[in-house]
Amino acid sequence: MIGKDPFPPLVPRWKSIQRALKFALNPIPILDKNIEEYGDTYAFHIGGFFSKGIVTTEPEIIRHVLQKNHRNYRKSNIQTKILARFLGNGLLTSEGDYWLRQRRLIQPGFHRDRIKGLINLMNSEIHDSLAQLESQIQLNPVVDVHGEMNRLAFRIIAKAIFSTSLNEADLQALSERITVLQKFIVRQIRQPYMRPWHHLSGQVRRHEKISDRTKEILARLIAQRKNSQLQEDDLLQMLLDARYEDTGERMTDEQTLDEALVLFIAGHETSANALAWILYLLAQYDNITDKLRKEISRVVGDNSPTYDHIKELQYTRQVIEEGMRLYPPAWIIDRVSLDDDVIKGYHFAKGTLMILYVYGAHRSDKLWNYPNRFDPGRFHQDHTKSIQPFSYFPFGGGPRLCIGNNFAMMEMQLTLVHFLRKFDLERIPGDDVSPLPMVTLRPKAGIPIKLSRLRESRVRHS
Ligand code: HEM
Repeated sequence: MIGKDPFPPLVPRWKSIQRALKFALNPIPILDKNIEEYGDTYAFHIGGFFSKGIVTTEPEIIRHVLQKNHRNYRKSNIQTKILARFLGNGLLTSEGDYWLRQRRLIQPGFHRDRIKGLINLMNSEIHDSLAQLESQIQLNPVVDVHGEMNRLAFRIIAKAIFSTSLNEADLQALSERITVLQKFIVRQIRQPYMRPWHHLSGQVRRHEKISDRTKEILARLIAQRKNSQLQEDDLLQMLLDARYEDTGERMTDEQTLDEALVLFIAGHETSANALAWILYLLAQYDNITDKLRKEISRVVGDNSPTYDHIKELQYTRQVIEEGMRLYPPAWIIDRVSLDDDVIKGYHFAKGTLMILYVYGAHRSDKLWNYPNRFDPGRFHQDHTKSIQPFSYFPFGGGPRLCIGNNFAMMEMQLTLVHFLRKFDLERIPGDDVSPLPMVTLRPKAGIPIKLSRLRESRVRHS
C-alpha cells in the first residue's frame, strides 16, 4: 500500500542541496519558506541526500505523533545518542520501557504540591542574583539579559537539586563544565559532517573526560547526602526517596546521578531563554509591562511571593505563555516512526523523521490571528478554549510532556515578580537581536537591554 497513497509535497532534492548551507546557518527562514511554497506539511531530503524527513505545523499530525499514536514514535538519535554520550541515560535521553519506569518513579516528585516546597529557595536565589545585578548596573546599565538569565536559571536548578549541600566552588565548577559540554553538544548536533573529525582529533574523548569530572562532583554530593542524616526538601531528596512501584527499591547511585545531570541540562537553558525573550518583549511594550506591574503590585505588593500569589498572577502567566508562543525555547521536537503510519490521509513509511515545527505552528497565520503580534490577551481564560489543541505546545505533549513544566512556570513567574519590582527596562535603539535556533532558541548575539532601578513611586502607584 505504501507508495500508492498520498505523500506530502516534496521539496526537490536540488533545492534542498541549494539551501543546505543557509539551512545550517539558520534553519528557521528556510523552514518558513518551504512551508510557504509547499504547505504546512512537506517532505524533504535530509541534508539533500537520500533519506526523507517530514516537517509539519499541523496540530492534528503533531497530536497524532506526540499523543494519539506515540507508541509508534521514538526520539531521534540526537537525544538518545549524542546527548546520552555526555549526560548518561536519564529521563530526557532514554526510551521505551526503561524511560517509562523512570518517568513513573520521578513524576510524583514534580507534582505541584512538591514543587511548591521549592518556592523559598527560588525566591532567595532570585533575590540574591538580582541584588548583584543591581550593583552591576551602577557601573554599566546595559546588560545582556540572556547571559544574566542563564546564570540565574543555572543557580536556581542547582539549588533546587542540591539546596544547602552545594557550596559556591562546586556550583562554579559545575557551571563551567556543563557550559563546555553544552557547547560541544551543540557543535555535534549542528555540524554532523564534523563528527568523524571530532573523534579523530580527540575532542570527543576530551569532552567525555569533562563529563566524567562533572559526574565526579555529582557523585560526591550524592554520597554526602546519603551518608548524612539530612532530609532536605529538594529534588535530590526526591530522587533518593523515590521507590519503584513493582520492587519497592530505589534507584542505583548511577541512575540517580544520570537523572540529576539530565535535570541540570533540561532545567536551565530552556527557562533562561524563555525569560530573556520575555524581558526583550517587555522592553518593547510599555503598556504590557505597566499592566504586569499593576497585577504584581495588587497581588504581591512588597511581600515575598508565595504559592498562593503565584496562582493569582494570571496576567503574569499569560505574558509568559505568549512569550513562549513567539519564542518557544524548544523550537522543534523530533521523532522517528517505528512502523508505517497513516495520518490525515498521508502514508508515512517506517523510519520517517518527523520534525514537529513548534516555532512554525506558534506563528502560523492559519492557527493564530496576527501571529507575530505580542498579545498576552490570547491566553486569557475566556479565550483559551478557542486555541486548537497542539497548535501551542512549548512543553511538548503526550506522555513525554516536559516533566519540569510546573517548576519552570513557577520559576519564571517568580523571576518576573522580582525583576519588575526592581528594574525598568529600555530597549537599545538599533539593537540587532534575532533568534538563532541551536538546540534551543537562543538569541544570536545576546539581548542587550538598558536597566535602571525602578523608582519607588512607580512600584506603589502604577
Ligand atoms: C521554559 C522552560 C522549559 C521548556 C520550554 C521545556 C520544554 C520541554 C520540551 C518541549 C520537552 C519534550 C521534548 C520532547 O518531547 O522531545 C521537555 C522535556 C523534559 N524537560 Fe523540559 N522544558 C522547560 C523546563 C524544564 C525544567 C525546569 C526541567 C527540570 C527541572 C525540565 C526537565 C525536562 C525533562 C527531564 C524532560 C524529559 C521528560 C521525559 O521525556 O520524560 N524542563 N521539556
